[in-house]
Amino acid sequence: MIIVKTVNELKDEIAKLSGDIGFVPTMGALHKGHLSLMDRAKLENRYLVSSIFVNPTQFLAGEDFEKYPNRYEDDIKLSKDIGVDILFMPNIDDIYGFDEVTIKAPKVRSFTLEGYKRAGHFDGVLQIVLKLFNLVKPTRAYFGKKDAQQLSMISIMVKNLFLDIEIIACDIIRDDDGLALSSRNIYLSSSQREQALAIPNSIFKAKEIILNGELKSKVVIDSMKSILSNLDIEYIEIVDRDFNQIDTIEIDNSIVLVVVKVGDTRLLDNLFI
Ligand code: PAF
Repeated sequence: MIIVKTVNELKDEIAKLSGDIGFVPTMGALHKGHLSLMDRAKLENRYLVSSIFVNPTQFLAGEDFEKYPNRYEDDIKLSKDIGVDILFMPNIDDIYGFDEVTIKAPKVRSFTLEGYKRAGHFDGVLQIVLKLFNLVKPTRAYFGKKDAQQLSMISIMVKNLFLDIEIIACDIIRDDDGLALSSRNIYLSSSQREQALAIPNSIFKAKEIILNGELKSKVVIDSMKSILSNLDIEYIEIVDRDFNQIDTIEIDNSIVLVVVKVGDTRLLDNLFI
């Protein structure tokens, strides 16, 4: 595995490759969710390129940018073991300069749910993902469905800007107790983690009800609310794949989304229907 830290080094290494490149961008603190993306990218491409960069422009003031988990030594080992060919670990100054050109997420679809709660977040995500795409020039890029709206924004960007990159959506990976894997799970104390299990339980309940034929969003949301009643629910919504709220669930075109705060930690989960 080659570790590169600067943009010029990365350009040089990418120029040497000939064949499909699978790309997995991350912010580090790698877990089995990231590794499953890398595994798939490795299988489907000749080269696997990954990046670790905690991107300041996607954090809002007061969020956890300063304390975002830093596990660089473990991350390097995990990346090597899984077969990453090139690992890009730039510094902020390599990526951002003075008075940058910015990119705006689409007005309507980025201004609901996560985009509403974290105004400007998706602008920062698209800005870094576009920069990384321009440097890595991937054939395919892999993103988890856990950040469903991020996945949707990136897919729209690729389509709108005519980027020749295939976006591959990968299933949520859960811990044995059901909690969706996230680098932010590290913040939970053991009692908070126990409480957080209500989140996957609410998702599993939603799945069961829907599979039994209940398609009214309100009924599904109410049953999830009852399971999450002791937690600080930010939102539970059922949307179509364009993130429009829907009263009636459409099979193969809906997503159940839940965001809950446990202590100071926001946890996201969802179910693609
Ligand atoms: O999902 C993430 O970890 C980040 O949002 C991403 C896509 C690496 C951009 O910083």
